[in-house]
Amino acid sequence: MYVCVCQAVTSKQLAVTIAQGATTMKALRNELGVATCCGKCARDVRSQLQQTCGSAGGCACAARS
Ligand code: FES
Repeated sequence: MYVCVCQAVTSKQLAVTIAQGATTMKALRNELGVATCCGKCARDVRSQLQQTCGSAGGCACAARS
């Protein structure tokens, strides 16, 4: 499923990129280009980031933006 329609980024691509160490919104913007066009995906990207990091033992990314 597409998370970011503007950049054609799927939730799977997002999960892989987070697992590879992109654990901030800034890193995900740089790596995938999410939330760099219309910005409508930002909330969903942040939500997936927080869920992924939270289930991986809590990397405090919820406090980052
Ligand atoms: S949907 Fe991600 S920038 Fe538009």
